[in-house]
Amino acid sequence: MNFPLSVKIVEVSPRDGLQNEKNFVPTAIKIELINRLAQAGFQNVESASFVSPKWVPQMADGADVMAGIERRPGVIYSALTPNMRGFEAALAAGADEIVIFGAASEAFSQRNINCSIAESIERFAPVAQAAQQAGLRLRGSISCALGCPYEGETPIATVLDVVGRMQALGVEEFDIADTIGVGTPLKTAQLMQAVAEIIPIERIAGHFHDTYGQALANILASLQVGVHIFHSSVAGLGGCPYAKGATGNVATEDVVYMLHGMGIHTGLDLNALVQTGAWISSQIGKPSTSRAGRALYLKDTL
Ligand code: HMG
Ligand code: MG
Repeated sequence: MNFPLSVKIVEVSPRDGLQNEKNFVPTAIKIELINRLAQAGFQNVESASFVSPKWVPQMADGADVMAGIERRPGVIYSALTPNMRGFEAALAAGADEIVIFGAASEAFSQRNINCSIAESIERFAPVAQAAQQAGLRLRGSISCALGCPYEGETPIATVLDVVGRMQALGVEEFDIADTIGVGTPLKTAQLMQAVAEIIPIERIAGHFHDTYGQALANILASLQVGVHIFHSSVAGLGGCPYAKGATGNVATEDVVYMLHGMGIHTGLDLNALVQTGAWISSQIGKPSTSRAGRALYLKDTL
């Protein structure tokens, strides 16, 4: 079987991982998390979200977080921006990459960003243009690509339609997101294959939440199609405030354990990730959901 020789993992715990935490995570902890992650070898850390603090209070300190982190050369620090206001804040904060985030479900789009899919594309257009003018990378996230908490199954054609509209805006990397973790491997492979017919494979990323325990299997299925960018969160942190019951992203430690076991290069220090996963879990007072993270931590501390 042919698998990519190397994979880029975009670490999303500082944003997707923490955004749903009920208790406010102190800015200094967010900063230390990002610094530890960059030190562990990530080339891309999703670090903040410039959204309404009324909608997502946990992300209200994005500017302070971005101002406090150490900038490691070569690391891309990304920020989510739903509109021009978010873009201006992300630009001022020195974000290296702008993430516009839409959905392949009308109901989810309304709940998450308070507008239809078509309206969201209209809002993203000036953001995309401004990002390009500022010389920033532009990423596009498409939620509910494998299912929606309100509408059920998502037709592949709907995902392709949103991908196409984002492509027209100049999006460079496309995050195919299983927001509520309902996807299964064959469906995931079919979807990735269909996206790869309109977007070069090196621009496609898999963003899998692990709600139904399918995320690693879906990553494997995507790898077989040739996808080699994945998103994950240390300790399996996370959840979307507008997707009831959605649990965290697939745990980075589990993904890295699997990839390294398959001889696939990630550039990441698994031991450092295990320590960081254990550290952030203790800081927020929740056990890590990473199976490999827990096993390796116990093995080293016994
Ligand atoms: P709205 O209410 O339609 O917009 O919200 P508005 O323009 O009428 O503004 C409402 C208020 O928000 C106003 O303040 C604005 O100033 C303020 P007020 O006058 O009431 O005091 N506002 C802002 N404040 C700070 N930064 C901004 C900003 N924009 C407006 N950029 C809006 C529309 C998009 C703003 C809102 O719905 C929102 O912030 N949504 C955020 C949703 C979110 O962050 N969701 C989680 C991230 S997406 C995700 O997790 C999925 C992903 O992981 C992939 C996957 O797994 O599926 C990426
Ligand atoms: Mg997500």
